[in-house]
Amino acid sequence: MPERILTKNHDVPHLDDIDVYIEHGGYRAWPQVLREMTPEDVIDAVSRSGLRGRGGAYFPTGRKWSLTVKDGGPNYLCCNADEGEPGTFKDRQLMERNPHELLEGCCIAAYANGAEWTYIYIRGEFFQAAAQLEKAIAQAYDRGYLGDGVLDTDRRMHVVLHRGAGAYICGEETALLSSLDGKRGYPRVKPPFPGQRGIVERPSVVNNVETLCNVPHIITHGPEWFAGIGARRATGTKIFSVSGHVNKPANYEMPLGTPLREIIFDCAGGIRDGKAVKAVLPGGSSTQFLTPELLDTPTTPEAMLAAGSMLGSGGVIVMDEDTCIVNAARILAKFYMNESCGQCTPCREGCRWLYRILDRIEAGQGDPGDPDLILSICDGIATKSLCLLGDSITYPLVSSIQHFRDEYDRHIREQRCVPKTNGR
Ligand SMILES: Cc1cc2nc3c(=O)[nH]c(=O)nc-3n(C[C@H](O)[C@H](O)[C@H](O)COP(=O)(O)O)c2cc1C
Ligand code: SF4
Repeated sequence: MPERILTKNHDVPHLDDIDVYIEHGGYRAWPQVLREMTPEDVIDAVSRSGLRGRGGAYFPTGRKWSLTVKDGGPNYLCCNADEGEPGTFKDRQLMERNPHELLEGCCIAAYANGAEWTYIYIRGEFFQAAAQLEKAIAQAYDRGYLGDGVLDTDRRMHVVLHRGAGAYICGEETALLSSLDGKRGYPRVKPPFPGQRGIVERPSVVNNVETLCNVPHIITHGPEWFAGIGARRATGTKIFSVSGHVNKPANYEMPLGTPLREIIFDCAGGIRDGKAVKAVLPGGSSTQFLTPELLDTPTTPEAMLAAGSMLGSGGVIVMDEDTCIVNAARILAKFYMNESCGQCTPCREGCRWLYRILDRIEAGQGDPGDPDLILSICDGIATKSLCLLGDSITYPLVSSIQHFRDEYDRHIREQRCVPKTNGR
């Protein structure tokens, strides 16, 4: 098995307890940072490690931190633990099994960005993860890793857990910031970026759970060690949440760059009942469908883009040969229709139209012009909406028509699903 960083100790009993975490190498990095490193040293180490954000966009973390405005006033760190992307369930496992690793990452990231307060914005439905974090936060305060005069220094470091109310859009960073401010979770136009103006109008860094969990390991083992794992320009590991028609759906931590085929077949045990793969969404529901001939694509952001899709959140959704692609697209459209915040017209109206058209095709009442109508509506949404949720619905839908146009046409003509034909 390749080296695991984040999930290595997940089978250790009671890893969520602070003593067990410390026994397994925890809380070494945070005291080291406090005693030996300046914020600039930390940013330099994270930059040299090559760590890129695991929330889906893969923006270099060190660069994000170096761009954060530091004017001597209060800054904030916001940990994005909203994890609402269909097919993605890695952050939940990280928080449930090893909450102190995230807290330690938060402390170091906050320090690097001149913040004394971290807000962990956790998805409302994550009851167990929230309970684990509450317990871990209390333990960390008790042992002096958090608090005023943290670890016998004159610094303050505080962490607050904030539970969301179940809106997917609050995972989008500017909506998350609005929600933390006590406003409606509406995305807003960028710039200003969060690092310029975030909660209470102050610079705020937003990072994903998995991103922050990597930080203590980079400090403890060094940026060169981290940069030696994974692929060029895609360093470290990634937790792939594999779901759908596979034998062993679960989270698998693999070096970035591992081909999709290895993740689906070697890790997740291949397709149920020995069936063939029909299509894969490689990075959660907001990515383009890939077809079986592209399964050898390495899981780096650039390789996925070249193959016509995106690495996204690493939620690998696998569909076998019996899947009706129209119905899959319909289910996705329903999700985005329900989750659109309604703030801008192309997304609010477009998602609803898309769902209604797909629903009528699925019900055997499609019109021969429907696939082109879907493409034209998607064209009216993509790049014309305020945030990326609008674009997100167009990725799987447009690619489903590009790859499976024949199946759409047959579904409309024969007024039924076209099972086992691969539709192509
Ligand atoms: C509609 C939408 C939903 C998102 N949901 C999440 C989420 O649940 N978790 C997350 O970390 N990032 C999510 N993102 C990405 C965040 O906006 C942001 O880029 C990310 O938290 C930055 O962290 P990183 O630099 O560590 O990747 C979402 C983006 C969009 C457009
Ligand atoms: S694109 Fe959709 S989710 Fe994003 S702001 Fe507009 S209506 Fe809201």
